[in-house]
Amino acid sequence: MGIARWYDETILPKVISLGCGSPEVDELRREVVPLAQGAVFELGCGGGFNQQHYDTLAVTSYAGIDPNGRLLEAARKRARDRGWEVDIREGRGEDLPFPDSAFDTIVCTYTLCSVDDPARVLSEMRRVLKPGGRILFLEHGKAPDSGPARWQQRIEPVWKHIAGNCRLTREVSGTIRKAGFEIEPIGQGYFEKAPKWAGWMEWGAAKHLGA
Ligand SMILES: C[S@@+](CC[C@H](N)C(=O)[O-])C[C@H]1O[C@@H](n2cnc3c(N)ncnc32)[C@H](O)[C@@H]1O
Repeated sequence: MGIARWYDETILPKVISLGCGSPEVDELRREVVPLAQGAVFELGCGGGFNQQHYDTLAVTSYAGIDPNGRLLEAARKRARDRGWEVDIREGRGEDLPFPDSAFDTIVCTYTLCSVDDPARVLSEMRRVLKPGGRILFLEHGKAPDSGPARWQQRIEPVWKHIAGNCRLTREVSGTIRKAGFEIEPIGQGYFEKAPKWAGWMEWGAAKHLGA
């Protein structure tokens, strides 16, 4: 096994769990994930940290994908422990294994920062979402202030290698809007528990307006 693969399979899942599993991050998840309803798809479902926040009375079905097999094992175990029937598959957002207009809601938390091709992933999300459906997003990204933004540019070339391809300089709402969605913001701001270069967050809903 090469060192990059060893890192991705053994160390990276622990790094992601540390960063994404904190109670403070959970507070933000609580503002977004319970809004999911109908047929739900979660992009980059990771280790399943969002599962506890779904309103299972409002969700009629749940599908998730993620390219990291180790995280998927944890996500499937969480679902089993909750007695929740789910369709969790290995896959990438750039090529979603679902038919057109399959979902009412897509949940996307801390994932658009890590995909290889955000425009293609958003176009795939638009394809599998029903017209009128919504993406519920909670993402970190490019800081609006010049000081932290400069640090993001300096740190990103190293950071992306240790943090699973995570980029610091991607715009959140701007990128989603460009892909043809109407943004309904819920919140934005610097996360208190992180340095500003890692802590700019935006969360809300993005509506698929139809053809
Ligand atoms: C920071 S983690 C967030 C995990 C989870 N969404 C959460 O909120 O806890 C980023 C996730 O994006 C996944 N990811 C990376 N590239 C991806 C891609 N091309 N398509 C879908 N997911 C991807 C990673 O495997 C990882 O689980």
